[in-house]
Amino acid sequence: MGSKLKYISSKLLKTRIVLRDPRLARHVPSTEPFTKENLAAALRRDGMVYVKPDHGSLGVGVMKVERLEAGYRLHSGVKASTFPTIRGLQQSLLKRIGTKPYLVQQGIRVLRYEGRPFDFRVMIQKNPAGRWECTGIAARVAHPGKAVTNGSQGGTIFTPSTLLLPAAGRHKTDRLLRHMKRLAALTAAVFSRTYPAMHELGLDIAVDRRLKPWVLEVNTRPDPCPFTKLEDRTLVKKIVAYGQAYGRRYCLNCTKARKAPPKSRP
Ligand SMILES: Nc1ncnc2c1ncn2[C@@H]1O[C@H](COP(=O)(O)OP(=O)(O)OP(=O)(O)O)[C@@H](O)[C@H]1O
Ligand SMILES: [Mg+2]
Repeated sequence: MGSKLKYISSKLLKTRIVLRDPRLARHVPSTEPFTKENLAAALRRDGMVYVKPDHGSLGVGVMKVERLEAGYRLHSGVKASTFPTIRGLQQSLLKRIGTKPYLVQQGIRVLRYEGRPFDFRVMIQKNPAGRWECTGIAARVAHPGKAVTNGSQGGTIFTPSTLLLPAAGRHKTDRLLRHMKRLAALTAAVFSRTYPAMHELGLDIAVDRRLKPWVLEVNTRPDPCPFTKLEDRTLVKKIVAYGQAYGRRYCLNCTKARKAPPKSRP
């Protein structure tokens, strides 16, 4: 059952798959179905959480919730609201969520560039020889005022080292990029065990302030758009060629994500 599946939309199911490998599990934020009780417990434990649709994409409906000294703060889109009590916060969230399945996930305090959060999209594909190969890493800086980095939400795409070097230095930057590729390879291996028909995965990886990488999400139908905004065109060319070899055609008309300004490109 399921062995021919190529796409999985439930983030909860995908999280459970990555948790099967203990080397990956250490890099996965705790993720549970959204309930009032799970929200309260996660906020007590983690202080900051993300609330997101189980079947969402493009950053739509993804919200950041923080516990303050007194009360709570909810950040959705470019708007933030505060609530003096957890009850008020829960009511507001339940109104936004309606009957859709939602998740509550431990929030990662990610690295920032000019005050804006950033994270990474790591693409891994089966190459024409049938072996998993990491074909690109792109960094995504959130639109000013937003708590999500998605290009479709106005994020800006950078070459990873441009953002990592000032935060981590050369040695740790190289180590982190190698670590991200290893996490992608482990993820591909654990998905392949159950879903051998899969050919590509796109990991959303955030790096916290102690430079630990966290796998926020695994996309089973990854969007190549971030890679079209990089100065180095060789990545997107390879991604498209590998995709073509296993019968995938990408839409490369990417209008929402922005290119990094020339001065910041290496
Ligand atoms: N636990 C978290 N900690 C910190 N930031 C997060 C967390 N979860 C999500 N984010 C931010 O929100 C963005 C969107 O979340 P996520 O990738 O889970 O959903 P999505 O983008 O809607 O799904 P898809 O990638 O399939 O389009 C992430 O790229 C990241 O910037
Ligand atoms: Mg995502």
